[in-house]
Amino acid sequence: MTADFRNDDSVLVARVENVLQERRSLGLEGLVGGLETVVFNVEPDRLKEAAAEFLGTTGYFFGAGYDSPDAEACVLELPGSADFLMRARKPGPNPFDAEPKGPKSAHLPHTRVETMVFLCHDLERFVALQQARGVRFLSPIIRSDSSLFIQTEPSAHSALSYGYVQWLGCGRQYHGGHFRQAEWSLAKPDRAHLRNIGIFDHASVRVRARERDNAIVEFLELTNYEYSMSVYVDNLNSITNVARLPGEPYAMVITSGLGDAVGGQVGPTEKFIENYGRRIHHLAFRTEHIQQTFAGLKAAGMDFLVELVGSPEEGLRQTFSKPLANTLMVNEYIKRYEGFDGFFTKSNVTLLTKATENQ
Ligand SMILES: [Fe+2]
Repeated sequence: MTADFRNDDSVLVARVENVLQERRSLGLEGLVGGLETVVFNVEPDRLKEAAAEFLGTTGYFFGAGYDSPDAEACVLELPGSADFLMRARKPGPNPFDAEPKGPKSAHLPHTRVETMVFLCHDLERFVALQQARGVRFLSPIIRSDSSLFIQTEPSAHSALSYGYVQWLGCGRQYHGGHFRQAEWSLAKPDRAHLRNIGIFDHASVRVRARERDNAIVEFLELTNYEYSMSVYVDNLNSITNVARLPGEPYAMVITSGLGDAVGGQVGPTEKFIENYGRRIHHLAFRTEHIQQTFAGLKAAGMDFLVELVGSPEEGLRQTFSKPLANTLMVNEYIKRYEGFDGFFTKSNVTLLTKATENQ
């Protein structure tokens, strides 16, 4: 390893082209669709608090509670958006335990977004093709009356697991198989500003600079997503890398450093990984009437890393919350004007990236 490693988009783009070619030649193209479910594990004694926190800071509603031999869980849902399956694993083996925690995450050692689950149209074929490529899954395909499901081992590059579901009946149904419906529910807080908060727009996973290309290439190999762009913030040693799937609202954002720290300039991405371990840093939700909504969230007691920034002229308004107490997650609220598909505006990128140093 050289001491002056720097990411280079020409190297990345060449690998991306190879992936797309391989997807087509292996017959993987088109087998995987959009994001269906986000599996968000929390501590066993905090499941209800964490779910209530989510309901109180997003537009999502409580779907149903579940119990299984492995975990207690609940589904949080919003029409037109991926579900969040918030769960608390019962004592037993945890494939995510190996990922080191940091000083700011050690008190909630099992709390993380573990798995991004994508729709699959032919799971048996997909799994056979991926296994032939050497991909390792945590189990064989899990069958229930309503679905087929499988997930990869946590990634060596991003610490995320990728899951795949093939629904057998009428769409998303989590009961059957291991999950039995449980007798609890949580009320949606009746606050007007929450009705302005909409679908899940993107998540940003933070990876090490040297893992950037591997993490992006792996994500493209395991989904039908396409590499979209990389935005460099040189003075903060940060790159925001984006993958999209045409027609799908959810974008996967992979944030890394540019390269090895230069002159002690570690940057917010490396600092976050030191403090929390590799993980998803924020979940972004599309937000209407964002000024009133921001005021409503503040009035309800939410703390923010940064004020609302951007403008309609710039195409975007957005803000980041402080990490939530029960999940360590930052919520981003984002208003896109006239189809703007970026992740920050030119004038705010430094401010927003720097704001994440304050956590
Ligand atoms: Fe974001």
